[in-house]
Formats: sequence, C-alpha cells, structure tokens
Amino acid sequence: QAAFTQRFKQIQEEALLGGGQKRIDKQHASHKLTARERINLFFDQGTFVEYDKYVTHRCHDFGMEKEKIFGDGVVTGHGLVNGKLTYAFSQDFTVFGGSLSETFAEKICKIMDKAVLTGAPCVGLNDSGGARIQEGVESLAGYAEIFQRNVDSSGVIPQISLIMGPCAGGAVYSPALTDFTFMVQDTSYMFVTGPEVVKTVTKETVTKEELGGAKMHSSVSGVSHRAFENDIEAIASTRQLMTYLPQNCHEKRAPRPWTQFDRNSQSSCKVLNNIVPFDPNKPYDMKIVIDSVVDRNQFYEIMPDYARNILVGFGEVEGRVIGVVANQPQVLAGCLDIDASVKAARFVRFCDAFQIPLVTFTDVPGFLPGTVQEFGGIIKHGAKLLYAYAEATVPKINFITRKAYGGAYDVMSSKHLNGDYNYAWPTAEVAVMGAKGAVEIIFRGKNVEEETKKYEHAFANPLKAAERGYVDDIVIPENTRDIILDNLKVLESKNRIKPARRHNNLPL
Ligand code: COA
Repeated sequence: QAAFTQRFKQIQEEALLGGGQKRIDKQHASHKLTARERINLFFDQGTFVEYDKYVTHRCHDFGMEKEKIFGDGVVTGHGLVNGKLTYAFSQDFTVFGGSLSETFAEKICKIMDKAVLTGAPCVGLNDSGGARIQEGVESLAGYAEIFQRNVDSSGVIPQISLIMGPCAGGAVYSPALTDFTFMVQDTSYMFVTGPEVVKTVTKETVTKEELGGAKMHSSVSGVSHRAFENDIEAIASTRQLMTYLPQNCHEKRAPRPWTQFDRNSQSSCKVLNNIVPFDPNKPYDMKIVIDSVVDRNQFYEIMPDYARNILVGFGEVEGRVIGVVANQPQVLAGCLDIDASVKAARFVRFCDAFQIPLVTFTDVPGFLPGTVQEFGGIIKHGAKLLYAYAEATVPKINFITRKAYGGAYDVMSSKHLNGDYNYAWPTAEVAVMGAKGAVEIIFRGKNVEEETKKYEHAFANPLKAAERGYVDDIVIPENTRDIILDNLKVLESKNRIKPARRHNNLPL
C-alpha cells in the first residue's frame, strides 16, 4: 500500500505535466497558455474539481499502446465561475496535439451530461489538431457524440466555446453549435479544410490567418462573436459575459444588488434629449444611447466587429439583466441587411431561450436595397429576425428613436409582434418610407417641396402610430432608463404560453 502511495504521487505529478516540459515550453513560446493554466484562470481560485485525470486511450495501432499519457489530452471538471457552478473542458495541445480520441471524447461527454443534469453552463477551451489520426473512426464517432450533446443542451444551459489554438475539420462544428464562440488573435484559427487542401481544390493561395483567423471570423464570416489579444483577455471576458447569464433556461438571472450609492453615481440620461440630429439624414452613435441607459454605462457587446449596422449585447438596469438590440445609424444608415438580420436573430433567440428581457432601440430606414442582398436571400434572412422577435415570449420593450420605416418597422420588435411596451421619442418618424421618396412616387416630381412638407407633417412624427396605440406613449428621451426599469418590474410575472407543437420551423 505504501508503495502505491509513493507511486500515486509520481502518477499525479506526471498527469499534471501533460505532454512534458519540452512541449509546455513550446506552448508558451507560441504565446499560448497550457490547458491547466487556462483552467486555473477560468475558475474562481481553488474551486476546480477535476474528473478522469488518469484516463488513457485504448488505441493499439501505430505503436500507440506504448504512448499513453494520463488524461489523454483534455482536462475536464467543474468549479465555480463568479461563484456559480460551471463545467469546462480544456484541450491540452501538449498531448498528441490535443487531438480527439475515443476516450478524450468520452471525458468531454461526461461533463456535458453532468452540466445538463445539474443545470449549469458548459464551456469548452479548444486547442486541438483535430481527430486523433491514429484512431480514425472512433474519434469521428467521438465528435458526433459531442455534437449530439451540444444540440440536446442548446437552449437548456448556456454553452460557450473559446478557440485558443487550432480548430479544424470536424472539430469546428461543436463550437459552431454553442451559443458564443470567442477567438484569440494570431494563435487560433478555425476552418473546415486548411490552406493546403484549399490550394489543391480551388487553386487559391491563402494563409491560415487569412482563411480562419480571429480577425476574419469576427468581422467577415461571423463565426466568432469576439476576438481577443491573448488567452488571459479571452478568459477574463468570458467570465464577464457569464455574469449576465442564468445557470439554465428554467431560472432567471437574479438581479445584482443595486445600492443607493450606485443610484447616486449613475450618470443621467439628459444627453439623450439632444442626441438625435435635426437633419434626419445625419447619423449619430446609437452606442451612446445604450451606454446611457445601462448600469455604470457598461454594455457588453456581442459581435462588435460584424454587421456593425446593428448592435447587440447585454447590460443591466438597476441590476436587472437585459439583452439590447439597436440599429446603428452610423453604419449603412442603420439599414437591415442579411448579416445584421442573422446576427440579431440569433441574439434575440438566445435571450428568449434564457429568459433575458429584450430592449430594442429602433432607427431603421428599411432593408438594404440591391442585387447583392436580393441574390443573397435577404427575404429569408430578414425573415429570421422577424421570426425571432415574433416567437420571443420574454418581456419586449422598444423605443423608436427616429426612423421606423416600412417592413423594417414591423420587424424591429413592433407592437404587432406582441411587443409589451412600445415607445416613441418625439423625434420618431413611423412611416412607409421617408418623405422625399414617398412624394417622388406619389406625385411623380410635381410640387415636390410643398408635398414633402405635407407628408412630413403627416408622417414624420410618432403621432399617427400613437393615435392607433401602436406606440404606447411618446416619451422624453431622458426618461428612457426609468421607463425600462418600471417596465421590467411590471413584466416580471409575464407568462405567455405558446401552443404545443413538435418544434417551430425557423426559415434557414
Ligand atoms: N492526431 C494525432 N496527433 C496529432 C494530431 C492529430 N490530429 N495533430 C497534431 N498531432 C501531434 C503531432 O504529431 C505532434 O506530436 P509530437 O509533439 O509528438 O511531435 C504534436 O501533436 C504537435 O503537432 P505539430 O504538428 O508539431 O504542431 P504545429 O503547431 O506545428 O501544427 C497542426 C499544428 C494542427 C497544424 C498540425 O499538427 C496538423 O496539421 N495536424 C493534423 C490536422 C489534421 O489533419 N487533423 C485531422 C483531421 S480533423
């Protein structure tokens, strides 16, 4: 027994070293932390409990039986994040390049199952050379077992992926199925097929960074929700994101304490009274609007570099979490296009799944015109956002700050899509289109100035919509934050039951 105790110590030390000091040094030289360093940073200090530290692979081909490393390339377990139970796996690139074997997948599946059983978030730290080449189909089966669990947990518990090294081939699909994917600049990349295969098949010459780096995925493809300079920043921001999320779909995230001191130090919203320019064609920064209404002016933006004509992200109002969606007049005049519609639709659906009330700020001149948009299917992609708002049963509050034109008026959390509270600022214009365009069509260039004035008088204001009850009230902008707070309190007990069906059929 004493002999085993001695050996056990050695085994433990060995397990902690993963692929050995040389490979750890190589990992550090590549500006990457090791799997265990990442885990230690991610969880509240001293709370991580590891499972399956002594698991090894079962492969007997290509001399693998002689190469067994405790843990088999992935560190798994649970711990606390911001004091809340969370599960995580961290792929260890120092062990067979973090490649996924049958047992590696089993370890991940074990914690994914436990996360659902206990109703806690599951976070994956990815750094892997893909399927374990020596194993073949077992590792492919392992990926699919993980995918199935990603899908089964979708909308049940929050799932987040951090990409902190290679993530290629089949490995990309687990992150793609999770709610949020964060990448690290220069050290991480994601692609279905790498540059060599691309060159053979399409004759394109492209680097790993160009093909699947953090910059590309967070600004062009929209696969990644944010990019960070290094592992430390990515992990810190993930912990911050998690402060806004509930543990699972069955519970609301509890309000954070909000003291009289916080109330006194919250800046006023007076700046909003003059933020909308007199000239309707002049842009303004919608971020200022959002920053002004959320606690401590802290807006946690999702996808800040992608489809910048729409802003989405989390904030709090007196400690109560909200999901914010807002048109950004500074980019493409705030028009809805394919990318903006898909970005916002996914966010709205996340908030609805996890009981996070939605606050929308509308300033939208319509859908972006053009062949690129029509050929790309703006009809079906725009429908996604419309669908997402219409199916959402969480509290929905909307402020029309300026333009709410055409079909885009309907889409942006309108009263007609079961909006709970719809407001207009005095600067709002709710109409089929802008006065100039309308007059050109109706009067075919005759009496343009006079008719434009008439049209503006009739429609370039929120009165028509208010007369119908399509907006509940016309409000002074500086009161926006207080109104949101009151509405959130009233809607606390909102309970809209949807008719039973197998599942809906979101346009894809
Ligand atoms: N299966 C088994 N071992 C793998 C592996 C895989 N899929 N990917 C990497 N490894 C091993 C390497 O053999 C190497 O082992 P060693 O330390 O004993 O020499 C170690 O992991 C590190 O790999 P290396 O190639 O030295 O690292 P790199 O940073 O230069 O390159 C990759 C990283 C991911 C680009 C490269 O390893 C690679 O192309 N791997 C194969 C990717 C692939 O085709 N996967 C299968 C399809 S999903």
